[in-house]
Amino acid sequence: MTFFWSSWITILSIMCWAGILGVLLFVLKYKPDLEEDGTTGHTYDGIREYDKPLPKWWLVIFFGSIIWGAAYWIFFPAIQPANWKGIATVEVDGETVPWTSKNELYSELEENNKVFTDNFEKNILARANASDATQTLAQLADMQKTLRRSEEPPADLKTQIDEKVTELAPYVEKLSSDPNALKVGSRLFLQNCAVCHGSNAKGATGYPNLTDNEWIHGGKPENILLTLHNGRNADIDYSKNPEALPMPAWREDLGEDGIRAVTEYVLSISGNQNDYDLDQTMVAQGEVLFKEPTNCVLCHGEDGKGMLSTGAPNLTDDIWLWGGTREIIRDTLRYGRAGVMPEWQTKLGNERIMLLAAYVYSLSDNASTATNANMTATAASTSETTVTN
Ligand code: HEC
Ligand code: HEC
Repeated sequence: MTFFWSSWITILSIMCWAGILGVLLFVLKYKPDLEEDGTTGHTYDGIREYDKPLPKWWLVIFFGSIIWGAAYWIFFPAIQPANWKGIATVEVDGETVPWTSKNELYSELEENNKVFTDNFEKNILARANASDATQTLAQLADMQKTLRRSEEPPADLKTQIDEKVTELAPYVEKLSSDPNALKVGSRLFLQNCAVCHGSNAKGATGYPNLTDNEWIHGGKPENILLTLHNGRNADIDYSKNPEALPMPAWREDLGEDGIRAVTEYVLSISGNQNDYDLDQTMVAQGEVLFKEPTNCVLCHGEDGKGMLSTGAPNLTDDIWLWGGTREIIRDTLRYGRAGVMPEWQTKLGNERIMLLAAYVYSLSDNASTATNANMTATAASTSETTVTN
């Protein structure tokens, strides 16, 4: 808050407070001249006005409020809020901080979250035989706290945090066969993820299907955990920095002819090659461009099957993130693509992410082959998802 607004609030509050106090004191002291019968001599419609003292209880409440108001200035950052933080405090993130409305909210959120975490430990982790996860979670929370607090975090802290996150993978695997955990996970999914991935998690154009076995960023519990914690392509503003597009735009490098040729080649290696009459000359030209070391192979790999490290999808199947028709592929190549998966660590916290990762893992076939219990759990949670919608 600027000094001006801070002073504005201060002056207004004090004037209002002093004004009310002044009026009250004036009324208490003011003694009008009275007639012999004790009235003021004013009559309206035959009603004569007495001068009786204000009721005691009323005065007590009124003065009480005025004192309460002044006390508030001392406890709460109300007078010169830009500089004076008040003497009352709340606990946020293990630290004692001034009682501002923002800190009060954070502190309440933390308390609520504690209820959730306790419940998570007692009713979900313990029942799924995964109580050991609490140690890893505590270490992870400590590292995240250090990261939040340090202005210049140690260079390798982020990598260490990612490693700690992946240590949660075996517990996520356990949770993915626990109906209890999946029920909570599916609810969290509907609240946070369904807007983009759909309530059945089958995705939409630009939003991957999470129920199949085709993964852009990996379908093992550790991959899913990292996708949820950090997001994917999440920290760059592509509208300001088009060079950084995860799938770059090629219209300048390749030209329209080049784009048409490469599209023909992509169709020829894809699962829907039989849907089109392909021009073999263009396919051959496209293959040369595709395989130039600084072009497509750089991210999609020599065989076009995609790579985890670059997040470039497999182009040889019939599963498409953006669409597999000739026109859509040409557009993908002309303008580039930037699917952004937001980060959830700061929004949902480590415990909820574990539940979500377990739910997502349970949706794909690679999880259901692990145990039979998985199959039933998956079936139960999917039917619940459908019913809710
Ligand atoms: C704002 C839209 C949006 C929301 C909300 C969202 N996602 Fe995503 N998600 C995406 C996009 C876009 C991608 C693909 C990123 C890419 O193209 O590389 C993605 C990718 C993923 C992947 C990786 C898929 C793969 O094939 O590797 C997982 C897993 C995932 N999301 C799970 C979730 C979960 C769980 C939630 C809820 C906590 C969620 N997402 C919420 C947009 C969203
Ligand atoms: C810098 C790495 C990179 C390079 C180089 C690159 N791609 Fe991509 N490509 C990606 C990524 C990442 C995506 C996924 C985009 C997203 O997540 O939204 C993608 C997506 C695509 C898609 C959409 C797939 C779908 O399922 O809808 C096609 C088609 C494609 N690339 C073809 C190409 C071709 C052809 C070239 C060479 C001209 C190329 N890419 C070069 C990274 C790259």
